[in-house]
Amino acid sequence: MDEIFGKPILTQEEVRTRVRELGRQITLDYAQKDLLMIGILKGAFAFYADLARAIGLPLRVDFLVASSNDKKMTEDMNLLSALTEEVTGRDVLLVEDIVDSGRTVQYLKQMFGRRQPKSLKVCALLNKPERRAVEVTVDYVGFDIPNKFVIGYGLDYQQKYRNLPYLAVLEQVDKVEEES
Ligand code: IMP
Ligand code: MG
Repeated sequence: MDEIFGKPILTQEEVRTRVRELGRQITLDYAQKDLLMIGILKGAFAFYADLARAIGLPLRVDFLVASSNDKKMTEDMNLLSALTEEVTGRDVLLVEDIVDSGRTVQYLKQMFGRRQPKSLKVCALLNKPERRAVEVTVDYVGFDIPNKFVIGYGLDYQQKYRNLPYLAVLEQVDKVEEES
């Protein structure tokens, strides 16, 4: 599958280096806290696993499977699973793959805010500032990227290519369709 996409927009090495930096920063920021890292699946799975192991603290892990088919309606956000950890009183860090329009993060922040965490922050591997439709604060960003559709390292195109070990721009949609 590598040759379909050609050169990565972010190599494995670039991602690894940046994830380590984020891990160090989060380790410092949460040293005296009760960190609960909530991964937003499916997209965050690869980033989450690497980031968690780059943080030198006894954190708690939990996950939420979220999907939104119609990006214009946050009410359409499907939460396909429930958490098992208590959110109230905890220092919650939401881990996302990418912030695009910002609607997913806005929705999740409102939802988790109602459960009275001690603190609530967001960490996203990727950020597309040009695409923002609602104002949201993303506390930790791996990389700002241009307005292009990317796949790999957890991110999909029609549920595929999440296992590509680097991030690539999806340009040749026709070619991908032909081959699948
Ligand atoms: P938002 O609610 O518009 O910020 O969208 C966030 C979600 O859209 C992400 O969690 C991804 O699932 C999806 N998404 C946005 N841009 C891309 C992309 O370039 N590649 C793959 N998925 C994307
Ligand atoms: Mg996603």
